Amino acid sequence: MIEEKDGFFCLHGDSFCYLLCLENGELSLIHFGRDLPIEDGAALKLDRSVLPGRATLSPDGRTGAVTTSEFPLGRYGDKLSPCLQAEKGGKSSFDFLVRSHRINELAEPMDGYPTPKWASELVFELADEAMGVEVELHYLLFKTAVGRYMRIVNHGEPLTVRKALCSITFPFVDFSGRFLSASWADEARPSDVRFNCGCWSMDSSLGASCEAFNPFFYLRRENGECYGFNLVYSGNHFAAVEAGKHGFTRVMNGISPTAFAKTVSDGEAFTTPLSVLTYGEDLDCLSHANSDFVNGCIIPEAFANKVKPITYNNWEATYFKFTRQKIYALARKAKKLGIELFVLDDGWFGSRDDDTKSLGDWKPNLKKLPGGPRKVSDYVHRLGMKFGLWFEPEMVNPDSDLYRAHPDWALSDGVHENSLGRNQLTLDLTKPEVQDFIVDTIVSAIKDYRLDYVKWDYNRSMDGFPRLEGNYCHEYVMSLYKVLSRIKQRCPDTLFENCASGGSRNDLGMYSFFPYGWLSDDTDSYERAKMQRELSVGYPFSVFSNHVSAKTSHQMFRYSSLGTKFDVAMLGCLGYELDLSALRKLDEREIASQISFYKAHRELAQLGRRYDVSGDGFIAVESQLGDKALVSFQAKEATPNFHYDFLHVKGLRKEGRYILKNRKESFDLRRFGSMVNYVSPVRIKEDGALINLISRHYEFPSEETSLLCSGSALDAGVPLPPAYCGSGISKSSRIMFDFSARAYSIEPCSEGESKAKSKE
Ligand code: GLA
Repeated sequence: MIEEKDGFFCLHGDSFCYLLCLENGELSLIHFGRDLPIEDGAALKLDRSVLPGRATLSPDGRTGAVTTSEFPLGRYGDKLSPCLQAEKGGKSSFDFLVRSHRINELAEPMDGYPTPKWASELVFELADEAMGVEVELHYLLFKTAVGRYMRIVNHGEPLTVRKALCSITFPFVDFSGRFLSASWADEARPSDVRFNCGCWSMDSSLGASCEAFNPFFYLRRENGECYGFNLVYSGNHFAAVEAGKHGFTRVMNGISPTAFAKTVSDGEAFTTPLSVLTYGEDLDCLSHANSDFVNGCIIPEAFANKVKPITYNNWEATYFKFTRQKIYALARKAKKLGIELFVLDDGWFGSRDDDTKSLGDWKPNLKKLPGGPRKVSDYVHRLGMKFGLWFEPEMVNPDSDLYRAHPDWALSDGVHENSLGRNQLTLDLTKPEVQDFIVDTIVSAIKDYRLDYVKWDYNRSMDGFPRLEGNYCHEYVMSLYKVLSRIKQRCPDTLFENCASGGSRNDLGMYSFFPYGWLSDDTDSYERAKMQRELSVGYPFSVFSNHVSAKTSHQMFRYSSLGTKFDVAMLGCLGYELDLSALRKLDEREIASQISFYKAHRELAQLGRRYDVSGDGFIAVESQLGDKALVSFQAKEATPNFHYDFLHVKGLRKEGRYILKNRKESFDLRRFGSMVNYVSPVRIKEDGALINLISRHYEFPSEETSLLCSGSALDAGVPLPPAYCGSGISKSSRIMFDFSARAYSIEPCSEGESKAKSKE
């Protein structure tokens, strides 16, 4: 609900409010946090009857010295940075006053950007009459978030906008913040900052959103309250947190000002992307606000709050080297194990036998795949699975028919020889003929090959800032949104997966078109657990595409069992990416049992609410939905001697009775070395042939944990059985190798189960 009373405006969400005050044409923030009545505005407004020394005043008595202005311009003693930098006719000083406002029951669509659903809107109209510029400040109210953007309208001489950011100023400075730095295979690495005095900023300016940082970050106050910031945008972005004199903190985010210069001619407008602001009393509440917002308002209608299929993708199993027989064999095995969607990755087109050629030549390689993808699609459909293909539509290899036919389609700075990234060039998406080519390619492939799914990849950075003054990187993103809108219009039910060498473009702009994304090429479970823990503060599990890959990580050579890989990959949308036709029988059995476990808990895994229940030596992320919960428990290094890990399970009914169980798994005997002799009737050598033989047929079963207790006890924390510590073993001992994991399910306990358990 949006309320207005005596110069105050209050946007009430489900459990927060955003309270503004309009006075003398100036709009200031009064409160952003727990919900309050609008009448509290008067008491919460800062008393500015006395000003600090050296404060300056506008002729009509406004000051920037102690301001929580929502549109700060660095004037009248404001010592923090302005949110707008622009120039017109050699002048760059602006002073805007609010002239009017309007409330819309349904938010107006944003020019060229994806507009999230289900928002009402408050719009303030500002003008600097002397400069001939108007600005609209839009406030979109969602149930769990506020969205903000500005629309700058110019009159007269051209205006060049160099920086236009969303800005919010809090009248306190007790913040620390967490940003997620990003690089290939190491996405979402947390970086913590304590803000004291001065400015901290992040800038990601190599074309795709997550080249250096994810656009999501959060701030936490000393009292635990948290604020989340994100952008519905897929390109270069910037954020700054500035703590200043007088105890104020200003947070800004938006398009990166690096290599940005947008010229707005007479009568034209420039619109900034939507900044998303969320609030939570603690970090878990913040993550709930974010996941409700993304699931409810960002994800395309056809996929919102629906579960996704279990996928098989052949990439790490075959890379470019496959035959039709191999693909068929993988598909048969996938079906047998319970997989629902089969994806053929890179290498099915042109003469693409490695990454040096054929990007852009989207004609099937009939030598490798007689009959082409249509034949594979029919085969997979006959088996009873859905079928999908990999594309990298925005790129071209110089060694390709496409490049030879249209060298001018490749992006170039027009001066130097083009740089290559993964042997490829970026197509100039701002060209209408390139847009048409991509739309036609994807739409006809979906129709001709009967595709249920498309993986949309993007595997190089945009360097060299082509055509700086033309504002290229931003135009590229806007062209991408045009292309994606056209495709989505024609194929609304096709499932698209977002990918950019993993998570290099993992943002709310992309999720507005594609309901999920490949988080990282790194499928090592420990690395993935860390990423999932961080990303799940800003994004719901439903957008995480996670695959169980080969036991020895292709990115790090770290060994983990398939069980461990699953226990982490299950939080989100599950897939497999290892060579299924080379599995031992025992591994097949393990995967089949993982899949049936996942099917039984899929809604919970994809649509649940996140709680971080990590402890000292482990990362534990919980997903809770209704009366059930699932915990992905990832241990760090194994620890010597004895200790208990306490597991806290949050969000369940305190008075309810629950049963907590681990997913049963088993361990390769070779992991126990010569300790197998402890139970073996015959002597077994650690590296001998006998252990290899036995381990093909037998694995050591994991513990069976089964704890019956109340929701209160779970919330307070229950001790898991001690991990093996070198001094004996029992049926309940947890065997925790370095970086091994477990999955725990928590379900309401029926009376029967309760009685049976108490008899045990
Ligand atoms: C990128 C993706 C991988 C795979 C390859 C194919 O690296 O992240 O999953 O699709 O491209 O070339």
